Amino acid sequence: MKTRITELLGIEHPIIQGGMHHVGYAEMAAAVSNAGGLGIITGLTQGTPEKLAAEIARCKTMTDKPFGVNITFLPSMTPPDYPGLIQAVIDGGVKIVETAGNNPAPYMPALKEAGIKVIHKCTAVRHALKAQKVGCDAVSVDGFECGGHPGEDDIPNFILLPRAADELTIPFVSSGGMADARSLVASLAMGAEGMNMGTRFIATKEAPVHDNVKAAILAATELDTRLVMRPLRNTERVLNNSAVERLLEKEKALGADIKIEDILPEVAGVYPRIMKEGDMDAGAWSCGMVAGLINDVPTVQELMDRIMSEADSLIKERLAGL
Ligand SMILES: Cc1cc2nc3c(=O)[nH]c(=O)nc-3n(C[C@H](O)[C@H](O)[C@H](O)COP(=O)(O)O)c2cc1C
Repeated sequence: MKTRITELLGIEHPIIQGGMHHVGYAEMAAAVSNAGGLGIITGLTQGTPEKLAAEIARCKTMTDKPFGVNITFLPSMTPPDYPGLIQAVIDGGVKIVETAGNNPAPYMPALKEAGIKVIHKCTAVRHALKAQKVGCDAVSVDGFECGGHPGEDDIPNFILLPRAADELTIPFVSSGGMADARSLVASLAMGAEGMNMGTRFIATKEAPVHDNVKAAILAATELDTRLVMRPLRNTERVLNNSAVERLLEKEKALGADIKIEDILPEVAGVYPRIMKEGDMDAGAWSCGMVAGLINDVPTVQELMDRIMSEADSLIKERLAGL
């Protein structure tokens, strides 16, 4: 399948694996890129520019296909070394960056000078237009369904994607709630040039996370995610567990007075305990409503092949036959 996204990124299938904290290691990114999609290493997970450089080098030993690096701009009192991380991407010869969390404008000159294609992930049409204006090559349009940070507008993809199609001139991919061929074909119908998946890629053989995480996704239904940190205007969609229930109780009790310090035990530094150790109640971790559509743990290659062949049948048989 050829779309503006496959052409822009030099990939075979219009499927991207979004950056995921403590999931987006070289094993994940290389598996997706080797299967014809775009795999993405998560920059902040690596911690320092030196460690990111090492992870990029490691990924290059696992694939000769294009892969990207996610740089998430977070509100923080002690911000990560963003210039250093971006320099590591440039020096590592990576040609695709996924930005998220905030406007990438301050880093666009350096990225563009290095010939890097920038895909900005955002949750609102106005942010997508801003990304287009500051020179991003593409956007990932992340609907309310998504795992992670859906923003504060709560617009699901059946509205958000056609709205993006009406406004944007740069290509965009759908993101949030995408799992299979139906997701891909529907995204294409709504004007997207491909799709970005997060949660679906965690439930694959190659995802470098504890088996408990994969089992939790398989066991979850579409009813099992919760929105946390809404009162802090830093909303995150997470899988429900005892830590999330505790966190929501605190939000209810403290109301508008809640501060990030009140919920640190449930959100700070919990990812390694969940993703590596499989302690599924250690804290809040991002997961999409799409967990309700995930019932197996295939290899990434099997998943991608299935999506592409079923998309082909959907288009040629079901849609053309109507
Ligand atoms: C466990 C997990 C961690 C994530 N971490 C990040 C991150 O660090 N940076 C980022 O831009 N997006 C992050 N995301 C969002 C994904 O890249 C993607 O946009 C989202 O998962 C799409 O929704 P879906 O899960 O319904 O496919 C994360 C998602 C999950 C599930």
